[in-house]
Amino acid sequence: MEATHCHIVVLISGNGSNLQALIDSSLASNFKIAAVISNRPNAFGLQRAERDNIPTRVIDHTSFDSRDAFDSALGDAIEEFNPELIVLAGFMRILGSEFVNRFEGRVLNIHPSLLPKYPGINTHQRALDAGDEEHGVSVHFVTADLDGGPVIAQERVPVLKDDTAEMLAARVLEKEHLVYPKVVSWYASGRLEMQEGNAVLDHEVLPPTGVIIHP
Ligand code: GRF
Repeated sequence: MEATHCHIVVLISGNGSNLQALIDSSLASNFKIAAVISNRPNAFGLQRAERDNIPTRVIDHTSFDSRDAFDSALGDAIEEFNPELIVLAGFMRILGSEFVNRFEGRVLNIHPSLLPKYPGINTHQRALDAGDEEHGVSVHFVTADLDGGPVIAQERVPVLKDDTAEMLAARVLEKEHLVYPKVVSWYASGRLEMQEGNAVLDHEVLPPTGVIIHP
């Protein structure tokens, strides 16, 4: 994939610092952000996209009666841009199996823990409460299993004495901004795919931890 870039749609709900990392790296990479879609009208990430003339859409989940109706409108909005890949970047809605099947193997998520540890929310506090010595970030394919799809890559950070959840979150976020553009570019170059529920990179099935970026 040389002259043609892989088109991606990024889904956000909030600040969008991962979106910013993707915007910055897309300038010199093999993917192009075709659109940014938020389920929250006031997500700061929308302003980041507008600043770079990236089309935006808001599909506000509060205006739908059911999860399925929201998922279906979201899917339609995504398809308008005909992306090869959908990238969840701080998107705080659970997607139902119909959505997941519709875009099977074409949805990535970033999660701030070393999966399978701590799916769901409050991951940093949970790592501190458990007395973990290391914590980190995972990028995985999205399946109908919440934060349970095959892991593509992980990066670890140490948990330091006297860390608060905020300090730990900031340390993890720095790594998120490096690992996510890297994984998206693997997908964009055709090196990465999901096959029979496994993450496959360069024709090799990845282990449950995915690629460990900095051991
Ligand atoms: C990140 O920690 C991401 O892993 C999690 O939500 C946070 C979003 O941050 N899913 P941002 O909106 O990208 O700044």
